[in-house]
Amino acid sequence: TAPAKKNAVSAKPGPFTVETVLSVTHYTDRLFHFRITRPDAFRFRSGEFIMIGLPKEDGKPLLRAYSLASPFWDEALDFYSIKVPDGPLTSRLQHIKQGDEVLLGRKPTGTLVLDALKPGKRLYMISTGTGIAPFASLIRDPETYEKFDQVILTHTCREAAELTYGNELVAAVKDDELIGEFAREKLVHFASVTREEGPIKGRVTDMIESGELFERLGVPPLDPESDRVMICGSEGLLRDVKQICLDRNFVEGSNAAPADFVVEKAFVAT
Ligand code: A2P
Repeated sequence: TAPAKKNAVSAKPGPFTVETVLSVTHYTDRLFHFRITRPDAFRFRSGEFIMIGLPKEDGKPLLRAYSLASPFWDEALDFYSIKVPDGPLTSRLQHIKQGDEVLLGRKPTGTLVLDALKPGKRLYMISTGTGIAPFASLIRDPETYEKFDQVILTHTCREAAELTYGNELVAAVKDDELIGEFAREKLVHFASVTREEGPIKGRVTDMIESGELFERLGVPPLDPESDRVMICGSEGLLRDVKQICLDRNFVEGSNAAPADFVVEKAFVAT
């Protein structure tokens, strides 16, 4: 009865679908991007995350949370990942090639969404490392530009090579047929490095506190009257930018109660 039983199990809609890898790009020995097929029925809001995984040797799925890095209107799904040498999932996932299969969860979710923010003039998207991933989705959503006059994406990494994905992404978005026109008018990209010399060196948190960020951008300092903030990165970044927001009387928002800022930990898939 074993084969019949197996078929019966796989025919039942499980918590994930099996998708095919379309392309893989390696940026550094720590960072890579991959693109997979998207099931017709898969719907998500820009900024949400989903479970991604591979089957383990015993056949059971090994899954981790990943931010969706592609826009909701795209025909395939993008992900931006760290490589952890001893990580159960990413030590294997980093070797995927075009044509390989990966597991995709069925239920996207998250708080880094436009619905969780009140209307405002200027939207800050503050990221470090792979925390840029949900913003790769949001900066390609026309609604982002309908809701805000200016969209400021900040990305801080240790080294310049780690900024490549973001640099290429923003260039492509500004060149895009669908949203390029809005992005060229409203999207500002601010990238800094912390552990080597670069055109702009320092943590974004220090540059907010000192006012350097606003001077460089030519905008007034953070103000809950006009500004909204989305934060995605390391736990330290979340804690520090959240405190900066609270100190300036910003209120944290959620899907149920939209407000001035929202926070999501960058999923450091292991
Ligand atoms: P730093 O080099 O000063 O630690 P990581 O690779 O460790 O996730 O870090 C990514 C980037 O985030 C680094 O440039 C790091 O700066 C920066 N970073 C780490 N913690 C914070 C924080 N609490 N506030 C602002 N930036 C941070």
